[in-house]
Amino acid sequence: MKVAVIGSGIMGNGIAQVMAMSGYETVLVDVQQEALDRAKTTMEKNIGRVVDKQGLETTVEEVMQRVQLTTDIQHVSNAEVVVEAIVEKMEAKKALLQQLDEVCEPKTIFASNTSSLSVTEMGAATKRPDKVAGMHFFNPVPVMELVELVKGADTSDETMAVLQRLTEAMNKQSILVNDAPLFVVNRILIPMLSEAMFVYEEGIASAEDIDQGMKLGTNQPIGPLRLADMIGLDTLLAVQQSLLDETGDSKYRIPFILKKLVRAGHYGRKTGRGFYQY
Ligand code: CAA
Ligand code: NAD
Repeated sequence: MKVAVIGSGIMGNGIAQVMAMSGYETVLVDVQQEALDRAKTTMEKNIGRVVDKQGLETTVEEVMQRVQLTTDIQHVSNAEVVVEAIVEKMEAKKALLQQLDEVCEPKTIFASNTSSLSVTEMGAATKRPDKVAGMHFFNPVPVMELVELVKGADTSDETMAVLQRLTEAMNKQSILVNDAPLFVVNRILIPMLSEAMFVYEEGIASAEDIDQGMKLGTNQPIGPLRLADMIGLDTLLAVQQSLLDETGDSKYRIPFILKKLVRAGHYGRKTGRGFYQY
């Protein structure tokens, strides 16, 4: 079976890695050649980690042979499932899905890795709303076991079943979610990250102490501000904006420090600076 991933950033390269390691012929597309070059290096390093750790009978080269990295979207035409993992902007996602509608066979399923945007709205922008759903992976994809499968208003049960089988084949567990702002996990997680930023902004404690407090006091693997940097502050701001816009609830107001860091181009780990320096 051939699958494809569009967008080779933090999430896209991880999704393509796990697909290829699960035996799928995988096409990874990005508009920027440099992003594909970075993705190739990251994938080779992370495949090596998994092969060594699990003592697998395969090599990095063998896995990478199943991956085609390209800037030409035409190469996804005969994929059975295309997962989009581009920037968290509705207009960009709709434009991409409309392009995919022309490029792909009518049977191809489109899955969005969106963290927060309406899967129903994305489906309605295509000629195949029954074949559009959310397939929300977690960062870092090779490590995190969960995928939220999100059913839009017109997504068919058959589409959900195909994505459930793909999730299982990728050795991940799924939960089923109806389309709603931020789905389940982010609806609960993001307000906690936001609160950590308010605590920081109010000068109650340093970033290090906030993170240490949450790590040791609630047994989280990393603290909320470091996690925000890992997710990407630009993405996080877009996600928080969706939550505020969709609900209109002022309890979801956005910390000023987040806007300020994003305006300055400090997106967290991916740009070398966010709440921390990298
Ligand atoms: N590929 C493969 N393996 C990886 C990896 C990657 N990209 N990143 C980490 N690992 C492995 C390491 O090899 C290591 O394995 P061993 O323990 O067997 O040696 C293990 O993961 C732990 O890694 P590290 O020791 O380097 O660092 P760590 O202990 O801090 O763990 C972490 C890293 C797994 C990322 C951990 O910090 C963690 O779980 N953090 C929380 C992650 C989280 O909450 N993610 C959800 C974000 S929200 C989201 O994704 C949704 C959204 O829409 C925004
Ligand atoms: P990122 O900024 O690391 O990467 C996005 C990539 O998409 C870039 O390489 C960019 O060049 C590429 N791109 C943009 N427009 C494109 C187009 N039209 N065609 C092809 N490529 C295009 O972003 P990310 O963190 O990987 O996030 C991607 C998606 O995954 C977003 O929808 C985000 O909300 C979601 N997500 C992110 C996380 C996270 O922790 N970062 C977790 C779960 C879901």
